Amino acid sequence: MRLNTLGLIIGVLLLFSCGGGQSKIDQIKEQSKMAEPTSLEEAEAKWKDYYGVGPITSSFSVPDEVDQELAATGKQIYDLKCTACHKADKRFIGPAPKDILTRRTPAWVMNMILNPEEMVLKDPLAKQLLIAYNGSPMANQNLTEEEARAVLEYFRTL
Ligand code: HEC
Repeated sequence: MRLNTLGLIIGVLLLFSCGGGQSKIDQIKEQSKMAEPTSLEEAEAKWKDYYGVGPITSSFSVPDEVDQELAATGKQIYDLKCTACHKADKRFIGPAPKDILTRRTPAWVMNMILNPEEMVLKDPLAKQLLIAYNGSPMANQNLTEEEARAVLEYFRTL
């Protein structure tokens, strides 16, 4: 009888601790037994194919050919809202976006642009990036999904 009660209590506790509120990242970590990375290098190696947290909820690929018109729109947005902290090909307040798609997935880049606050809290790679950049966070510039996609296209021309 007492054992049953104990079992019930443990069951209820487990239900509360593992239930509904678990994020996708936590689930992936649990399923794949992936430990939290402790350096940016480790995060980049292990979480390379992941797409982060935010409005983009699945991976997507970009066509081989760059859409020049879209990239030109992206450049305008980037020049206006991103150059305070980013330089195309060298580290500034934030990282250089040149060749970013060799290091990150398109969906991850979009989520980093659209949802940086949550990314640096929950995404293992974004967390390490924040540490590598001395805790200075990426600013949410309130881009729409279309604008973020255009900037991503511009990054492909760098
Ligand atoms: C106030 C400074 C600031 C502004 C403005 C800013 N960023 Fe950032 N960004 C950062 C910092 C710092 C990091 C790295 C640290 C972090 O992740 O928090 C970063 C990281 C990033 C990353 C991840 C890079 C990588 O190598 O993984 C992307 C992509 C990015 N920014 C895109 C943009 C875009 C696009 C804009 C404009 C819409 C923008 N940023 C505006 C500071 C800024």
